[in-house]
Amino acid sequence: MTMKTYGVAVIGCGYMGKAHLEALSRHERTQVTAVVDANAAVARETARQFGIPRWHTDYRVFAGDRDVDAVVIATYPSTHLEITKEYLAHGKHVLCEKPVAANPADTQAFFRLCRRAKAKVMVGHILRHNETYRQAMQMIHSGKIGFPLVMRMSQVKQSQHWAGHLALLQDASPIVDCGVHYFDLMRWATGSELESVSGIGQRLDGDVPAHTYNYGLAAVAMADGSAGYFEAGWGQTLKTDFRKEFTGPKGRIEIIYQCFRPLSQQSLGNAIRFYDFASGEMTETNIPYEGKSTLSQISHFVRVMDGKAEPVPSLEDVCSAMHMALMADQAIREKRVLTNPDARCGQDIPLPHCIS
Ligand SMILES: NC(=O)c1ccc[n+]([C@@H]2O[C@H](COP(=O)([O-])OP(=O)(O)OC[C@H]3O[C@@H](n4cnc5c(N)ncnc54)[C@H](O)[C@@H]3O)[C@@H](O)[C@H]2O)c1
Repeated sequence: MTMKTYGVAVIGCGYMGKAHLEALSRHERTQVTAVVDANAAVARETARQFGIPRWHTDYRVFAGDRDVDAVVIATYPSTHLEITKEYLAHGKHVLCEKPVAANPADTQAFFRLCRRAKAKVMVGHILRHNETYRQAMQMIHSGKIGFPLVMRMSQVKQSQHWAGHLALLQDASPIVDCGVHYFDLMRWATGSELESVSGIGQRLDGDVPAHTYNYGLAAVAMADGSAGYFEAGWGQTLKTDFRKEFTGPKGRIEIIYQCFRPLSQQSLGNAIRFYDFASGEMTETNIPYEGKSTLSQISHFVRVMDGKAEPVPSLEDVCSAMHMALMADQAIREKRVLTNPDARCGQDIPLPHCIS
């Protein structure tokens, strides 16, 4: 039996849009039929580069198109709700980049809309499709380092494209924009929910929009007794620093990205470094580098569209991670500790009082 090839429109042709286009062009069952970018030169050049027949500056043009079965949304967070709404209204499947929205009201509206939709919706939590993280989580869940955990995580970047980061900062602080991935990791690792969060934020560069901050740190307590921090920033003078480390009473697991390994080891891919307290041994497992995992994510999305798999992560998991990120952001802005009265987003998405 011939399997259906899905026609896909990609909206937003920046860094992530191009990462999705690479993956879509490699997947045997997806064909990009149109690209859209608000910047006409970017849309035209992207269409030329990837050999895509049609391009436009208005995302609405392709929503009802019969050659479009699905849309990949890689624009800024404040636009995700309206684009999702338009394509779902035409029965198209949606793969939307995180974070799903730029504020709590749009976040609620997004999840309400998705739960009512007949078409499939998946949100781009790419680390859930990354083999290195999957194996690290398997090790944690099998009890190799024990519980409770201390989770130390940072995603700090010296910006190479400051104008792009300034545009993203208009919509979301780095604690929300990057944090949705890492708060999701905290839930994934512990299988538990947020208990409380506090934090600090700093405006380091003079042109950071007045309503936000470009460096933040959130301290998190989980309901199972685990604890952790997430540090995130984009700045012109910040030192790039990525830390993904999980420590328990029996040992420690650290994820080391290929680019941070010694030059002689980079061809081996990423590494999971495991310290076993009982034996005192340190072992390193190489995980062949698979790029940004966008291809694994697209492969899963195709199975979801086929009706053979559920979205990964589930919308409930996406909602809970976003809920944690918004609470962390609010705790930073209000300089107080926020506790989570109802630790997860329920069926009707009752986001907690602090963000409603
Ligand atoms: N999953 C990940 O690892 C990851 C990494 C980086 C960014 N992201 C997410 O991807 C999204 C895009 O980020 P980016 O780094 O690619 O940004 P970017 O600035 O590189 O690209 C965004 C593009 O969207 C276009 N755009 C904006 N509004 C539009 C609209 N209404 N219609 C059509 N085009 C529009 C812009 O012109 C720009 O070309 C964000 O939500 C971001 O958080 C995810």
